[in-house]
Amino acid sequence: MSATASATDRIFNFSAGPAVLPESVLEQAQKDLWNICDSGIGIMEHSHRGKVFDRVIEEAEADCRKIADISNDYAVLFLQGGASTQFGQIPMNFLSPERVADYPNTGEWTTKAINDAKKFGKVNVPFDGTAENFVRVPTDADLEGQLSSDAAYLHYCSNNTIFGTRYLTPPQTKAPLICDTSSEMFSRPIDINRHALIYAGAQKNLGPSGVTLVIIRRDFAETANPNLMAMMDYRNHIKNGSRYNTPPAFGIYFMGLVFKWILNQGGLESIERRNAAKAQLIYDAIDESEGFYIGHSQPWCRSHMNVTFRLSNPDLESEFLKEAAAQRMDGLKGHRSTGGIRASIYNAFPHAGCEALANLMRDFMARKG
Ligand SMILES: Cc1ncc(COP(=O)(O)O)c(C=O)c1O
Repeated sequence: MSATASATDRIFNFSAGPAVLPESVLEQAQKDLWNICDSGIGIMEHSHRGKVFDRVIEEAEADCRKIADISNDYAVLFLQGGASTQFGQIPMNFLSPERVADYPNTGEWTTKAINDAKKFGKVNVPFDGTAENFVRVPTDADLEGQLSSDAAYLHYCSNNTIFGTRYLTPPQTKAPLICDTSSEMFSRPIDINRHALIYAGAQKNLGPSGVTLVIIRRDFAETANPNLMAMMDYRNHIKNGSRYNTPPAFGIYFMGLVFKWILNQGGLESIERRNAAKAQLIYDAIDESEGFYIGHSQPWCRSHMNVTFRLSNPDLESEFLKEAAAQRMDGLKGHRSTGGIRASIYNAFPHAGCEALANLMRDFMARKG
């Protein structure tokens, strides 16, 4: 593999994660791997307690705060263990056998979060999309009357990576709100102040796998259970500025570059407009096809990050994927649990790739429909 891959080497990568990253960031990282800030040492070789890394983590945090206007009421943490560790860490901190938490179930990731939460306390599932095969998220009307009166928190997943659905707005609740936003973090404006805790594994919109962004309200963190092991205690990570132990240094560095890239793109409103236009190209091709392509999500809650659909004749799906591969499009096979086609088109995915896919869809239908 060339160490100096140019844009022309690269194909359209529709992978759900790890996923496409901004090319300017990859180029900068190539340089900094060798020698960052003229220090004579590469980013992966610096002590996490040295001056160079001090600057890297401070800038990453400051830029993260700038992107979403995050006040000092919140701590910004860079943790390990992926979003899946948060499934357990959250109830370990904030649930107990005598308390209940609300978990609307919108697919595989919330199912996993529910299973972990049940090990620590009671779980109320106010909406369960299983019977409908997760074709939508709940509306506030669905949740009304179903929420616990004294929930420790409500946990939801803002964008379902596998089924391609998303919440248009966070669910209404009086309980502290916790969001798994792994597959759409910083792809549209997010109201941090409505949440007690937001988390996202990096490997879709933010950087490489191995680092998890956690934004937590400081006073909520103080309500955590006592006697937690140090690595599972948010208060410990807040106190130590994400450096209680050796942090995922390269991931934090890389996320910092992606934050700068997001700011240079004009911030979240501008990113959201671009993402909406990209997604529309593919949804239009689905909707115009009059049933040749069948979108999975109900149209009102379609994800702008993961566009999921089937071909009405499933026998044609492998042929479609083969033609896509021949046109330099990779990663379109649906999740192993659902099949079909999934186009993951995160922030760094180019508009031209969505055009290429929509063109192939129309052309393929003209020949096979
Ligand atoms: C919405 C969502 N939550 C959680 C996860 C699990 O993330 P991780 O592999 O970082 O544990 C994923 C992974 O794709 C995801 O899409």
